[in-house]
Amino acid sequence: MIVARTRAGLAEALAALHPPGHRLALVPTMGGIHQGHLSLIDLAHERAPAVAASIFVNPLQFGPGEDLASYPRDPPRDLAVLEERGVDLVFLPAVEEMYTEGEPAVTVDPGPLEERLCGMFRPGHFRGVLTVVAKLFGLIRPDIAVFGRKDLQQLVMIERMVRDIELGIEIIACDTVREPDGLAVSSRNALLSSDEREAAPALARALDEAAARFREGERRANVLLGTVHDALAENKLLRLQYAEVVDPRSLNRVDPVPEGAAVALAAFCGSVRLIDNLVLEAA
Ligand code: PAF
Repeated sequence: MIVARTRAGLAEALAALHPPGHRLALVPTMGGIHQGHLSLIDLAHERAPAVAASIFVNPLQFGPGEDLASYPRDPPRDLAVLEERGVDLVFLPAVEEMYTEGEPAVTVDPGPLEERLCGMFRPGHFRGVLTVVAKLFGLIRPDIAVFGRKDLQQLVMIERMVRDIELGIEIIACDTVREPDGLAVSSRNALLSSDEREAAPALARALDEAAARFREGERRANVLLGTVHDALAENKLLRLQYAEVVDPRSLNRVDPVPEGAAVALAAFCGSVRLIDNLVLEAA
């Protein structure tokens, strides 16, 4: 596995790994590599003969008071895990290598999709995500990029960016990986205390309860969301930030709720912000 920490090193590695006609898949990450990332890597391997990953904790997507400083970082461990999974190239730039001119003057405008779900609570977050993803696409020029469905809004916005400004990269979505107790796998799970870790799977259970009501025939959004709120009301360690039922492509709220809609939520477990979502299926 080649590890490139500079743009020059990256260009050299890409010349060998990505000759014309040879497909390259990219899995962008912020490190803290977990089973969810590994499922993205596995899917990337199915779609392309060469797989690159990036590890970059992007300051541009963290707001003031968010967890940029405490975000899990362990590059030696991440590199060992990625190498074992057969990744060919890892781009691991320092902040100054990524943002060579300091904070970028021109960024990607997320448009109205930013006013939905997490975007309402994390101003500037998706501008930061789209800008760094566009930079990674520009630097690595993959044919394919793989993202997880856990970050539903991120996935939808990256798909829109690629279509709207014709980036010519195929975006592949990968299902959420869950712990045996249902908790969606996330780098931030490592920040949970043991009590918080015990409380956190209630989020997935709340989504499951809404999905069960939907299978029983309930189609009113407020009733389905009421199920989520009720399931979490007694939990002292969880504070729901939002729960919404949305169309998973437009992210618009839906009511009555059709099959294929997604229930999406964000909650604080102690000081750790977790997100999750579930697509509703009829019985
Ligand atoms: O999902 C993430 O880990 C990040 O938002 C991404 C896509 C790597 C951009 O920094």
